[in-house]
Amino acid sequence: MSQPHTIVQTCDELRHQPEEFQEACRKLVVSHAINELHGARVFDEPAVALAPTPYAKWLCCRVAMEEYGHHVRFFELGREMGVPAEAMIPGATEKPPLSIFDFKLKTWEEFCVIKMLGDLGEILQVEDLVQASFIPLRNLARMTMPEERFHAAFGEDFCTELVATPEGRARVQDAINRIFPTLPAFFGRPKSKNNAMYRKWGLKVRTNEEMRLDYVERARRVVEDKLHLKLPKVDALAA
Ligand SMILES: [Fe+2]
Ligand SMILES: [Fe+2]
Repeated sequence: MSQPHTIVQTCDELRHQPEEFQEACRKLVVSHAINELHGARVFDEPAVALAPTPYAKWLCCRVAMEEYGHHVRFFELGREMGVPAEAMIPGATEKPPLSIFDFKLKTWEEFCVIKMLGDLGEILQVEDLVQASFIPLRNLARMTMPEERFHAAFGEDFCTELVATPEGRARVQDAINRIFPTLPAFFGRPKSKNNAMYRKWGLKVRTNEEMRLDYVERARRVVEDKLHLKLPKVDALAA
């Protein structure tokens, strides 16, 4: 049985908590700040140019605005916690963005698949954070969640439109085949020390392995049950 966690209401209160708790909060905030900004730069902003219609471009602008907004919110929380600004900017720090962003985006179908399946991964991450013991982080996750749901729904809706034609269907399946195997790495290594630290301090609920298994099953439901396409096999327990 896990013990009830200390609930920390403010950044000032956090300064009086054990150093490991503070470090765990900093790591989570820095990682989100870096990856939200990097994702907005390499996927969401370029997607505006790939979007095929004014309506799709308008929605892409909204998605890009929200992803930049997520960075801004995590960045501001990090600053309040005393994290140096340069530690939260990709490229300005030794901490690289996640490998899931290495995919070189070239087509509209790829972007739709990234939103449908990549942002589903983000939803799972935020599901744990909305219960976090550090209240400013919990509040931020609560603000972020409806937007992440919108991004995943955006991807699913456009993929549903695309698969209505045989060519579109083939292109979406091809994008899934190339993108999906890169995504389970989003959940980190099995038996991760950071994850154990996050759970110890009540910042996360699930292990990386539990999240990854849940993620693969939810991705399967979207791809196979809704779109009637095939989800490539991945080893859900390996990183
Ligand atoms: Fe985001
Ligand atoms: Fe998102």
